[in-house]
Amino acid sequence: MFKIVEKKELAPKIKLVRILAPEIAKKARPGQFVILRVDERGERFPLTLVDWSPHEGTICLIFQEIGVSTIKLGLLNVGDSVLDLVGPLGRPSEIDRYGTVAVIGGGVGTASVYPIAKALKEAGNRVISIIGARSANLLILEDEMRQISDELFISTDDGTKGYKGFVSDVLNMLIEKGYSFDAVWAVGPAVMMRAVARVTKSYNIKTIVSLNPIMIDGTGMCGTCRVTVGGETKFVCVDGPEFDAHQVDFDELIKRQRMYLEEEKKALEKFEKQLSGGNSN
Ligand code: NAD
Ligand code: FES
Repeated sequence: MFKIVEKKELAPKIKLVRILAPEIAKKARPGQFVILRVDERGERFPLTLVDWSPHEGTICLIFQEIGVSTIKLGLLNVGDSVLDLVGPLGRPSEIDRYGTVAVIGGGVGTASVYPIAKALKEAGNRVISIIGARSANLLILEDEMRQISDELFISTDDGTKGYKGFVSDVLNMLIEKGYSFDAVWAVGPAVMMRAVARVTKSYNIKTIVSLNPIMIDGTGMCGTCRVTVGGETKFVCVDGPEFDAHQVDFDELIKRQRMYLEEEKKALEKFEKQLSGGNSN
């Protein structure tokens, strides 16, 4: 059992939890993730490690309540525990001194890109960050990203804060203005990572994305997280989660992410009925 020691709501349906997990906190590196299971009837699902403290023995996770499992996690409070927590999983980000790096976070993906941006800054890079959300009230980690960035640009789809448009539009605009990037990191919805990859491909800029397929075991055994990269089959949980964006078959990823949408919708409806009836199992 892994105890929650802090819980915060960062935006509507976006929550942060800090969990006691000393062994994971000791080994965690930027770009890695954990797989958790809230209770004995829960499904296993991955969340990127946002922050960790080996000293306090805690890890920090940020999640959006979109399905049964994330809603169940959001219902837990300080003092409650999650049943299983496995990690750190996946290969860490390849942090190096690249020069000027654009770090792009789309929506909740900002939480995943934050530790990478921090590590890139610590490695001596000039970090230009772009974070975006559908609307101003959904922006997360703005202050944290500003602290570790040389420059921070914000976009919202509806124009309620920063540039009106997508993060990929801001990247394109910066390149057209004369910004030169030695590498780009982008994390967020698959459609956003595909859009960023299209922009950077035309300028031949090295681009890394962190993929978020459905996962079950996280050990390369079940095949659920299969993606095609450079024409080869890869398992995101062990070969990734980060890949060369220009090699990723995003159309396949998007299709596979939607494979169980109908089942997920039914499970959510059933869960919401149980919740309103006072039974959360
Ligand atoms: P969202 O749909 O609100 O989009 C967030 C931002 O991404 C938008 O504001 C926009 O700037 C950009 N974007 C969206 N669609 C785009 C398009 N078609 N072209 C260009 N840019 C686009 O995102 P959300 O509701 O916060 O959802 C977060 C998503 O991020 C989920 O799909 C989740 O699975 C994913 N995620 C991925 C990771 C990862 O490791 N890859 C980590 C956390 C979350
Ligand atoms: Fe099972 Fe990756 S989650 S192989």
